[in-house]
Amino acid sequence: MNDVLFFNGRWTTTDERVLGVEDRGFQFGDAVYEVFKFLRKRPILAIDHFRRLDRGLREIDIRNPWNESGFLRTVDELLDRTIFDDGIVYIQVSRGEGERAHFYPDNMPPTALMYTRRFKFPDEVKKELGIRLITAPDLRWKQCQVKSVNLLPNALAKKRAQRKGADEALLVGDGEVREGASSSFFVVRAGRLITHPLDEHILAGVVRDRVIGLALAAKIRVDERPLREAELFDMDEAFITSTTMGVMPIAEIDGRVIGNSRRGEITTRLQRLFDDLEMSEMSQQRRETTVSDSPPRRR
Ligand code: PDD
Repeated sequence: MNDVLFFNGRWTTTDERVLGVEDRGFQFGDAVYEVFKFLRKRPILAIDHFRRLDRGLREIDIRNPWNESGFLRTVDELLDRTIFDDGIVYIQVSRGEGERAHFYPDNMPPTALMYTRRFKFPDEVKKELGIRLITAPDLRWKQCQVKSVNLLPNALAKKRAQRKGADEALLVGDGEVREGASSSFFVVRAGRLITHPLDEHILAGVVRDRVIGLALAAKIRVDERPLREAELFDMDEAFITSTTMGVMPIAEIDGRVIGNSRRGEITTRLQRLFDDLEMSEMSQQRRETTVSDSPPRRR
């Protein structure tokens, strides 16, 4: 494994053990992360991801080591240095490294890293057949709008799904259906979309936001409201959205077949529209960037 790694202003590979044991991301989960996709070495919706990263860092009072253009420039350089064309970029910014203590000093220099990874995106067969979900209790913290690295409840829920032969866990709290363990969740009922509103119970998915925009532009109504668990099976279609899955139909939830067991009509439309949007991002020209906005070099 020798993927290209940006670490605090320098370039190395993931073979190098760069992180200190007293990094607060490692010891306290005191960090936020992002995942975005690249196709033919072009970043997909990277600005949307940067903006969410920036919001998350602000919420937990960590300094963002990048401004927007510095971030995009680092991404371009990362992709230039990467030997494969398609994959994902993982980014993490932690509060930084320092003697382990719950009280942290103000204004710690953050740890910033970014690396590429090969990724097998779903093929046409998978995109047609869809995936299976189980429902699981939402055991996460109460600030799910922050994309923090505290993913233990998500990982446990997903493992539970896998053990039951499913692909994703649908998190339910206070009788309301929230989102997938690593995806946003949509239902189609009577030609309309229903999805949880943006609040502290869900992550503001980048694909969720784009899909809502595409739906509205296509004159499909969108109700952003919590779905009661009791309503879960009263639907025509359902799908999840995420960076790695795009728009992915749901074939089954808790062993019950959704809709007429085939990819629904609205799901298919939105899947195509979103795939087209990704293609147009991919074919966008590279921006010209300036040299003055790179993050400070440390270590
Ligand atoms: N997960 N909700 C949760 C809890 C997520 O972890 C994710 C993404 C999403 C979808 O967000 P987006 O559309 O911005 O990818 C919703 C990423 C892919 C991950 O953790 O790997």
